[in-house]
Amino acid sequence: MAHFLSVANRKGGVGKSTTAVMLAHAFAAWGGKRVLVMDLDSQCNASLILMGGEAWSEARKKGLTISDYFFDLFDETYPEPRDFLAHNVGDVRQASGKPLAISLLPGSLMLEDVQGELYVKEARQSKDPEVVGQRVRGRLERLLRRFEQSYDVVILDCPPGLSFAALAALKIADRVIVPFRPDYVSQLAVDRIALLIEEKRNEADLADIPLADRRYACLANGVRPTGKDRLLIEEIGLLHPLLEAQIPHSDAIANAFDWEAQGKTIEEKYGAGAVPLRAVYDEIAHSFLMQRAA
Ligand SMILES: Nc1ncnc2c1ncn2[C@@H]1O[C@H](COP(=O)(O)OP(=O)(O)OP(=O)(O)O)[C@@H](O)[C@H]1O
Ligand SMILES: [Mg+2]
Repeated sequence: MAHFLSVANRKGGVGKSTTAVMLAHAFAAWGGKRVLVMDLDSQCNASLILMGGEAWSEARKKGLTISDYFFDLFDETYPEPRDFLAHNVGDVRQASGKPLAISLLPGSLMLEDVQGELYVKEARQSKDPEVVGQRVRGRLERLLRRFEQSYDVVILDCPPGLSFAALAALKIADRVIVPFRPDYVSQLAVDRIALLIEEKRNEADLADIPLADRRYACLANGVRPTGKDRLLIEEIGLLHPLLEAQIPHSDAIANAFDWEAQGKTIEEKYGAGAVPLRAVYDEIAHSFLMQRAA
């Protein structure tokens, strides 16, 4: 049974896709895990980083993206589900040169439109918008869980906006990683996503859940060695669970955003960023193991 790890924050550009892909590489390369990445963002950045533009265009033309998957299998009437997944993606290789066991459900520019169509479809069964929304989300949750027998870790790269798919990803997650940049808007953005994850109406209700019992952990990303960054991170850590490991601002990590046809080892790909990535990976992997033992 797979562990579901969603990477989410309502704020854009905080490093969600970068973190999702780095963790996929880390779980596969260092943990030897079978990893599936699901790209829930219509910007498709995780797909472009993992498979490159050409292969992603091919998947789109063949109707093998997440929106095709949702649309074709929504009612489970598709007779023989095609294999919507791309396999052995990513430009990181094992030291032996073998590809890593990372699969991808490619993203789609049409994901919002398709969710709208699914809503309309479901609205034929009920007139209550609340019920319709819940049913759509429930069906997407089931579809997102569908591959859980074949993978050890499923990583869901969420969009910054709210969508049925994003809410489904938060709902099914065993853990949500919330990357944030240490800036003044971040505290508010983290507060908002935390309420959604824990399904609480306000901060007072959220505060009733001990930090150790929360389903999410915040990850400081793009950190610079300044007192200001340190203070902002500490402030977030007072109200939210915070990973001890942090990801510094690093050119190697910024460059890793581009897919390269020639595979490299994980250390070559992330350069100086591989050391903090290892610390983040160890901390998250350890918390999964603790959870499994509990
Ligand atoms: N630690 C880092 N050091 C340097 N650059 C980084 C770092 N993390 C992310 N970036 C860069 O910041 C930009 C935004 O990152 P990314 O796309 O991962 O954010 P996102 O939260 O997924 O954005 P969106 O909300 O648009 O989906 C990218 O150009 C990425 O290369
Ligand atoms: Mg993104």
